[in-house]
Amino acid sequence: MEKKKLNHLAIILDGNGRWAQARNLPRFKGHYEGGKRVKEIAIAASLKGIKRMSVYAFSTENWKRPTSEIDYIFKLPRLFLDMYLSDLMKYQIKIECIGDISQVSSNAKKAINDCIEKTKNNTGMVLCFALNYGSYQEIINATRNIASLVKEDKLNIEDITKETFEEYLMDSTPVDLLIRTSGEQRISNFLLWQIAYSEIYFTNVMWPDFNEEELDKAIANYYQRDRRFGGIKNEK
Ligand code: IPE
Ligand code: IPE
Ligand code: MG
Repeated sequence: MEKKKLNHLAIILDGNGRWAQARNLPRFKGHYEGGKRVKEIAIAASLKGIKRMSVYAFSTENWKRPTSEIDYIFKLPRLFLDMYLSDLMKYQIKIECIGDISQVSSNAKKAINDCIEKTKNNTGMVLCFALNYGSYQEIINATRNIASLVKEDKLNIEDITKETFEEYLMDSTPVDLLIRTSGEQRISNFLLWQIAYSEIYFTNVMWPDFNEEELDKAIANYYQRDRRFGGIKNEK
């Protein structure tokens, strides 16, 4: 059977807090360790020819957490940049971001924008961080933008198609494989539109324990799936 290309890998990196708590460590240690895994898995994924890797780093619902945890999470972009810029350049990884970063601290915002700016000419895999991202918000914003165009007579209602709608999403690349770590089997408001036909892989491994071997297992599992997209079995 012809191999289905794995273009876009999306990861709901979950279990940082439980990983730390199981070791009697403060939750932030799990986030620190999880940041390292993002870099390692991004390099591994890029070497496997994956074109885009989206990671859910902070959801629009994560503001419900204690301020001390939120503050630590938003220190990570600077740390990530300082520790890993040379690797990002070496492997030509380009950083992008989806989500509303206008609400995050100015230090975090600067680090995120620096990361995007410094890697913008890299030609390899795109590593897209979903930061203060939520699909409800993304879809509502797209709908508002489209509704304004209709109201201003710049768009006909019958011209609102899947393609037009996707122009207003923060990123419309369809997800081929979605991985969620830590044993939770839910989507938690991540890329709802983009995962319409993605293959989903759940693992009990906590994100800080996720390594290249686990990535290989998920990818091998992906290649065994029969993606039909509503059609019938592909015999090719
Ligand atoms: C995922 O790990 C990272 C973020 C949501 C920021 P969690 O912090 O959700 O870890 P658990 O689920 O509490 O173990
Ligand atoms: C989803 O994880 C968000 C991120 C990984 C950033 P959560 O840990 O916030 O999700 P729930 O609350 O368990 O659904
Ligand atoms: Mg969690």
